[in-house]
Amino acid sequence: MPRVPSSCLRPVALVVSLLLAACGGGKSDAPAPPAAAAPSASGLTPFQEQHGIGPVTEELVLGPVDHELAEDGKELFDAKCAACHKMDEKYVGPPLGGVTTKRSPTYLMNMILNPDGMYAKHPSARALLAEYMTQMPNLGLTQEQARQVVEYLRTQTPK
Ligand code: HEC
Repeated sequence: MPRVPSSCLRPVALVVSLLLAACGGGKSDAPAPPAAAAPSASGLTPFQEQHGIGPVTEELVLGPVDHELAEDGKELFDAKCAACHKMDEKYVGPPLGGVTTKRSPTYLMNMILNPDGMYAKHPSARALLAEYMTQMPNLGLTQEQARQVVEYLRTQTPK
């Protein structure tokens, strides 16, 4: 190995010490950026926070309202949901007119298909439970039926 004269190393040492000084000894004040899929304080992933917990784990992206689907949804709603929900006022449960502007379609699907899982962990579902003091039952809808009901809810605005 050829001998490197020590004078050649000096500028390198200078750069290294400048870098160390600039970093303030290694600790910076900026908070660490959150890791993309890290669980939040509630223990949920960001996806679950926004879209709920349940069988639907991919975001539903909806186009314009499909009125045929919404008609089927209305029938189901009248048969299975209207006993507890109105569109424009509190009943056994909260009014659902305009709920699609507040919750994502995926969240609504999961709330309909997996209310128990939502009560167990989701802060928004727990807050509503505390307010209404009634648990929404699992009505045993299929994913397809839940999708129809969500389509119907998209046509409903609060009066
Ligand atoms: C036995 C009464 C009952 C029935 C039947 C019922 N719900 Fe509920 N629902 C509730 C109650 C009470 C709440 C609010 C408190 C809670 O979440 O426990 C609620 C909450 C909800 C929420 C959450 C609203 C929000 O702002 O996050 C949605 C969505 C919902 N219901 C949709 C439906 C649909 C759709 C049906 C029919 C398939 C249905 N519910 C049937 C009682 C009911």
